Amino acid sequence: MSHNLLKGKKGIIFGALNDMSIAWKVAERCVEEGATVSLSNTPFAIRMGNTEELAEKLNAKLIPADATKVEELEQVFDESMQAMGGKIDFMLHSIGMSPNVRKKRTYDDLDYHMLNQTLDISAISFHKMLQVAYKKDAINEWGSVVALTYGAAHRTMYGYNDMADAKAMLESIARSFGYIYGRKRSVRINTISQSPTLTTAGSGIKGFDSLMDFSERMSPLGNATAAECADYCITLFSDLTKKVTMQNLFHDGGYSSMGMSYRAMEQYIKSFEGIKDEDGNVIYG
Ligand SMILES: NC(=O)c1ccc[n+]([C@@H]2O[C@H](COP(=O)([O-])OP(=O)(O)OC[C@H]3O[C@@H](n4cnc5c(N)ncnc54)[C@H](O)[C@@H]3O)[C@@H](O)[C@H]2O)c1
Repeated sequence: MSHNLLKGKKGIIFGALNDMSIAWKVAERCVEEGATVSLSNTPFAIRMGNTEELAEKLNAKLIPADATKVEELEQVFDESMQAMGGKIDFMLHSIGMSPNVRKKRTYDDLDYHMLNQTLDISAISFHKMLQVAYKKDAINEWGSVVALTYGAAHRTMYGYNDMADAKAMLESIARSFGYIYGRKRSVRINTISQSPTLTTAGSGIKGFDSLMDFSERMSPLGNATAAECADYCITLFSDLTKKVTMQNLFHDGGYSSMGMSYRAMEQYIKSFEGIKDEDGNVIYG
């Protein structure tokens, strides 16, 4: 249902690969709320995915770019402003990739060239986007920028590997640039820390199904879906959240504040049934 929250606004959405992508849902919701968008992804992703289909559906300009290359990002901003007739109001960074995860290199056996690629693609690209936008003065006053992150930036999660380091850096960039962009141009910058979500990037993480199941059961409201994440992004792009900046905002059904749930406690106790000492007491240690 549309509330026209983004009526007349223009935005750039990075990272829509296919209809499971969080960026795909965000782009659709932005247009539904009255915005015009342009889309960007790598030439490889555009060949392999369905971004062209989305661009056609949303009547959006599609601009191929590797987000680690500053010259290509400059083109994205130039062509977007040209196509949409002026500066933009919002931007989504929805990009993540770890060659170490792909090649199944564990955290105690990282390839350092690949680690640099992980950081460049998943975190530094955000700085590059912001710096390009800032230098071109491409974002209107009171504009809003969002990047997607994950709770493994704060708490160790089995299998998330070097992406945890990338997300910690991404969140830090949002704060550091948020200060400068806020003070100089009243542009706000936030990260949304999303629940595990079944997408192409998500399913590459080791043990992803169990992780999703665990957080679904541990969160009082259950996991947040990609469509719900899109709704949350809309609020941040809208004028209703003008003074929210430099924040990492959890969108995870309450997971990040949980320690132990009733169900998990019951299950935990069950797992020790049968392990009792000579007096019939359950052994915990
Ligand atoms: N899926 C989850 O469980 C989950 C949870 C929290 C946060 N996130 C984050 O959400 C964001 C979107 O991921 P998704 O889950 O929708 O998966 P996705 O695979 O649909 O999206 C990842 C996108 O990154 C793009 N990309 C990779 N390398 C790039 C580069 N060099 N330049 C430009 N684009 C590049 C891919 O082409 C793809 O479109 C990522 O930052 C991810 O870490 C995902």
